[in-house]
Amino acid sequence: MTPQSRFTLEDRLPADYFSNALHADVTRGLGGTPRTLPPKWFYDKRGSDLFEQITRLPEYYPTRAEQEILTRRAPEIAALTRASTLVELGSGSSRKTRLLLDALTAGGSLVRYAPLDVSASALEEAGEAIRRDYPGLEVTATVADFETDLALSDEPGPRLLAFLGSTIGNFDAAQRQTFYRTLSLALSSDDVLLLGADLVKDPEVLVRAYDDSQGVTAEFNKNVLYVLNRELGADFDPEAFDHVAVWNADEERIEMRLRAKVAQTVKVPDLDLTVEFAAGEDLRTELSCKFRRETLTRELYEGGFTVRDWWTDPASRFALLLAVPN
Ligand code: AVJ
Repeated sequence: MTPQSRFTLEDRLPADYFSNALHADVTRGLGGTPRTLPPKWFYDKRGSDLFEQITRLPEYYPTRAEQEILTRRAPEIAALTRASTLVELGSGSSRKTRLLLDALTAGGSLVRYAPLDVSASALEEAGEAIRRDYPGLEVTATVADFETDLALSDEPGPRLLAFLGSTIGNFDAAQRQTFYRTLSLALSSDDVLLLGADLVKDPEVLVRAYDDSQGVTAEFNKNVLYVLNRELGADFDPEAFDHVAVWNADEERIEMRLRAKVAQTVKVPDLDLTVEFAAGEDLRTELSCKFRRETLTRELYEGGFTVRDWWTDPASRFALLLAVPN
């Protein structure tokens, strides 16, 4: 008899989450100096599709580099952790996850896959496909914002908590500390964190990864303006802004910006907001911090984690690390 596999989806977002968070983020971000918007608002359906396209661009190496490491190290990760539950934060399409699921099911320890994402549709699509392909595996998906609600509860341990793709790079240093601390307090002593982090490298390579020749990243960047137009009745003209990717050498991060081509006024009726952009003024839409082994190890330690293993791809572009609560 084939064991019955199960798929459940729990929506833990408050009913007014999207509108409350968007209103607060946009009011704060457009009103500040410099003007900023948090990257999470890129990812409506079109934005998620554009990001999938980005991961296949010749210039965008992080996805492939991380996949190389996972392909090589997944069996080791399974043997080291003997995880019963794989929790994945910001799972999106769960493509890379299959490498971990394959190794953990081959190792015989895995009982449950628990993806967590703000997108219910991404969880439904990916969760259903995984339930189908991994008979006997429980799939318990949770719709939540891991910045405010980590939603770990009664999963069978030990738990392997995966946070892949260098999404950690979207946080500044202060946000990362808060995140590590919250996470380390939520984990038990036999749980393990698997973190993917993009590494500091030649700025030309970095800038090309965020300013590709086909202009897909430019479209992805401008997509946030379409989101604001649709969700808040704003009147941004996305073509009145240039896509810019800047390497900030002091902070060791790529900053994506939208640069006003000419002076312009933008109205956001739902927020009673009028924003004046000077010609050449930047709206910063994303931080993508890049890491070094020593400093990342240290900041994790300060946040409550000890790094146990550190692997890179052969070209040392990207790192995957295992860390345990201190
Ligand atoms: C999904 C946040 C890891 O920062 O590299 C890709 C998003 N932005 N191209 C990244 C992104 C522009 C990506 N993360």
